[in-house]
Amino acid sequence: MTQKEAQLKIGNQTVNLPIYSGTYGNDVIGISDLGKAGVFTYDPGFMATAACESKITYIDGDKGVLLYRGYPIEQLAEESDFLEVCYLLLNGELPNAVQKQTFSKQINNHTMLHEQISLFYRGFRRDAHPMAVMVGVVGALSAFYHDSLDINNPSHREIAAFRLIAKMPTIAAMCYKYHIGQPFMYPQNRLSYAENFLYMLFGVPSEEYQPNPVIARALDRIFILHADHEQNASTSTVRLAGSTGANPFACISAGIAALWGPAHGGANEACLNMLKEIGDVSQIKKYVDRAKDPKDPFRLMGFGHRVYKNYDPRAKVMRETCHEVLEAVGAKNEPLFKIAMELERIALEDDYFIEKKLYPNVDYYSGITLSAIGIPTNMFTVIFALARTVGWISHWNEMHANNSRIGRPRQLYTGPAERDFVPVKKR
Ligand code: CMC
Repeated sequence: MTQKEAQLKIGNQTVNLPIYSGTYGNDVIGISDLGKAGVFTYDPGFMATAACESKITYIDGDKGVLLYRGYPIEQLAEESDFLEVCYLLLNGELPNAVQKQTFSKQINNHTMLHEQISLFYRGFRRDAHPMAVMVGVVGALSAFYHDSLDINNPSHREIAAFRLIAKMPTIAAMCYKYHIGQPFMYPQNRLSYAENFLYMLFGVPSEEYQPNPVIARALDRIFILHADHEQNASTSTVRLAGSTGANPFACISAGIAALWGPAHGGANEACLNMLKEIGDVSQIKKYVDRAKDPKDPFRLMGFGHRVYKNYDPRAKVMRETCHEVLEAVGAKNEPLFKIAMELERIALEDDYFIEKKLYPNVDYYSGITLSAIGIPTNMFTVIFALARTVGWISHWNEMHANNSRIGRPRQLYTGPAERDFVPVKKR
């Protein structure tokens, strides 16, 4: 980081503030010492606040660029696989052939869950949302793996990362199996990460199950595309929870909770529900008009992004994959997918969406793809959480490796001034 300086005038006082430059992106003004001048900064929604320094992921929202450790997402989605991307995000470099094999083995060593954890599922109603189950079960891992809870020990942090990456598909598939009342399937380590997930999701003990390679590849891509996205709401939640010294399983559980909302990871589920609600191509215009009406809270789910003011590069890759899957499963002409393709076309040509730079985001196509694969809507965000776990844990690890301080935002207090208590009889 090179250092320049900014000057801030507050009344008669001039405060000098350092300016830091990163590899790419806007310079940032260091304001930590502003409190000494008697002021704080105010930035609800973090519109212009860098909360940390990071070397993991870079997004250029205007150009539509996403880099993991410097590598463009399009190249990784085309040429890499999810476990290799996990290694990259965790370690900073792509693995060589030996490192790749060793990493794969290390992950495979941890795919099973402690048998006791399966009892947790039975405590939930069968109709519980799988995200509710996932938040609970991932948090509960803290009670099982006491040998990896010392956050100041790098090897404990590493084993916690392996466990989380390895166990998430097992946990996610069990959420689904519990919901539909089928037996849990144990992981099969001979399969790839995505194939194993499909096996645990769709396999049953009484039948042979052979994952379709087109679908396994599509799922692997979905995992790669969702693996990290710098300081989004859930990652920031993981960092904030982690800054208190909380254990990694609890922190990831907090991240899952933050991801669940429809403005974040819940958008893929909300998008599919919206397409079902539209119901017919003839209704699209009505919904587009509603999305444009400032008095109507309705938004086109799967459109728009806080950072991307250009086509989401993940959506470009996801769109191709979506078409491949629709072709492979023979679903191209199904009404839901026809609505999706027509809505995309109409919105991309509409002045409102063009002027506000609202493009389809990754969740638009991932929802459609997952639905074509046969994954139920309420599992979409669970799959997002599975894939994002490596990003969350990489940020959590980076934060601890840099000895960061507890995260403690300030506020602009606008509540009542100090006043005296009034006993109930006199109120
Ligand atoms: N449909 C219609 N209008 C929209 C939409 C939309 N999907 N998104 C934004 N706008 C309008 C919004 O009404 C506002 O208009 P105006 O300036 O007239 O008030 C303008 O565009 C800017 O929107 P904003 O809410 O100020 O933007 P934001 O950066 O705070 O919100 C967002 C970003 C993703 C929450 C928002 O675009 C949205 O709600 N999209 C739908 C939900 C969605 O698809 N979320 C997934 C995001 S990608 C996956 C992830 O990373 O989690």
